Amino acid sequence: MISKQLHEKIETIAAQYPNRESALMPALDEAQRSNDNYLSGADIAETASILNVSRSRAMGVATYYTMFNTKKKGKFHIQVDANVPGMLMGADEILQHLKDSLHIDTGQTTKDGLFTLSKVEDLGSCGTCPVIQVNDVYFENMTVKKTDALIQSLRQGKIPSPETTYNFGSECGILLKNRGVKNARSIEVYKKNGGYDGLKKALTLTPPEILEQVKFAVVRGRGGAGFPLGMKWGFLPKNDSRPVYLICNADEGEPGTFKDRQIMEYDPHLLIEGMLISARAVGAQKAFIYIRGEFRWISHILEQAIEEARKEGLLNTVDIVVHRGAGSYVCGEETALIESLEGKRGNPRLKPPFPANKGLYKCPTIVNNVETFACLPYVFTHGVESYKKIGAVGNLGPKIFGVSGHVNKPGVYEFPLGVPLATILKAAGGVKGKLKGVIVGGLSVPILTPEEAKDLKMEYDACLKAGTMMGSGGVIVINDTVSIPKLALRTISFYAHESCGQCTPCREGSHYIKFLISNLIKGIGKKEDIDTILRFCDTIMGLTLCPTGDAFAMPIRAMVNKYRAEFEGLVKE
Ligand SMILES: Cc1cc2nc3c(=O)[nH]c(=O)nc-3n(C[C@H](O)[C@H](O)[C@H](O)COP(=O)(O)O)c2cc1C
Ligand code: SF4
Ligand code: FES
Repeated sequence: MISKQLHEKIETIAAQYPNRESALMPALDEAQRSNDNYLSGADIAETASILNVSRSRAMGVATYYTMFNTKKKGKFHIQVDANVPGMLMGADEILQHLKDSLHIDTGQTTKDGLFTLSKVEDLGSCGTCPVIQVNDVYFENMTVKKTDALIQSLRQGKIPSPETTYNFGSECGILLKNRGVKNARSIEVYKKNGGYDGLKKALTLTPPEILEQVKFAVVRGRGGAGFPLGMKWGFLPKNDSRPVYLICNADEGEPGTFKDRQIMEYDPHLLIEGMLISARAVGAQKAFIYIRGEFRWISHILEQAIEEARKEGLLNTVDIVVHRGAGSYVCGEETALIESLEGKRGNPRLKPPFPANKGLYKCPTIVNNVETFACLPYVFTHGVESYKKIGAVGNLGPKIFGVSGHVNKPGVYEFPLGVPLATILKAAGGVKGKLKGVIVGGLSVPILTPEEAKDLKMEYDACLKAGTMMGSGGVIVINDTVSIPKLALRTISFYAHESCGQCTPCREGSHYIKFLISNLIKGIGKKEDIDTILRFCDTIMGLTLCPTGDAFAMPIRAMVNKYRAEFEGLVKE
């Protein structure tokens, strides 16, 4: 039952949004938290009624997102992430160990009600895999020994404080400039290091002048597609009476990607400053940071930083609201994200219309990635010419690369765009063992063989020429101990799990490809299945409502084509 106190809290949340339906997800989250991590049918119905949304819609939302528990969980919900980077870094062993020691399978709860064990998809922490999430808390760089100690502590009733060491490096000193600075999260330290100087300069310019500077700098979006920021902002309709909304995409959902959290967790004002510059340029008075729900503690860091900025009078003309997602990869796609922010299931919309014309609440909306915003303070503090000195022609500025998998020092490394892949791998301590393949832009891009990757420069155009994409800059390194069919199975299992189900090629195709690869691995596949997989990939490409279909068809096709002998070797005829 929703208490009076919780009802008031939901009203406070709803007041943050122009449309109270947007409060549905945070309100369901609060209801779940107030009821031992369980969302009952009655709570869903009451929450719906408070927010004036239909019960069926609220039920649809509660059952869509994986973080809503419509079935009771144990006191400690132990979630092991076994996506591809996790698999490469030992997650399967830890999951098996937990099954053996807790005597339960995934999806089950121990008889004493203490533990529920779940296998989950990518937690946005691929450089520190294996990761175990216990309720809201991440435990990173886990080993079997550390897992035992964690369970022992939980049996005594308490969630211990996590301790994590991250590897990082920064050649540019822009996006990760404050990464090693003590108390860099505080506005005082941020300002002492030159923070908010860029905003100060931008505020002396008119919005069209800011737009011109961003266009000259050719800042390309860091969320995956490398789309020029100035061009995107230029699509906003002129002389339009509707409000403009600005959204920061902090979903960080692409497996292999764990860069945005470094900015948000360790230098939140860098993001806020970039958003304030952008808000002035596009005329937004309301901005949102849509952050993946699992990053709860980071959302609190952001809220605290926003509060500090508010106290300094920096938010007098624009308000920023942090909105947590609730577990859905597809919600990283900008139109699904907008649907989710409107309090709905994360179903991508057909484009056009593009968000710049008809986005949040049918109003002009700009969606950009965390790292894209974080590039802007430098552009305005040091000038466009300084920015243009970094990187390669057409691919300017700094970029954070997240390196996971088989390297000696997985972590985040900032380099100018155009840096050789070999330099990034060297910074990450070099390849562990013999290189078999590398996925350079997050799980959804085609794998490269060592030969193809040898001289690769890490920028958007060079990667396209090499037959892949730089995507989010999540570099997953694979050595020769890995079976590519097994890698393909993990890959397709992720997409089959995440497909929103709106279109047949993605919904059915992902499961059928999974079925075929799984049969090959079990030794019951046929030779022609390999060509069927390829035919399916070719058919799916370009035929789906959002790019998720391509996001699995491309990597699977590349794995089969480039390592075909391994698939053929599984056929017992
Ligand atoms: C399935 C899917 C998932 C995505 N996930 C993310 C994400 O987690 N973070 C992100 O910034 N962009 C993601 N994107 C890209 C966004 O749709 C959008 O292009 C991006 O946020 C734009 O920001 P940018 O122009 O600054 O790169 C995803 C796209 C797709 C198709
Ligand atoms: S491609 Fe997949 S995720 Fe995208 S809309 Fe279609 S079913 Fe949904
Ligand atoms: S957090 Fe483990 S695969 Fe990304």
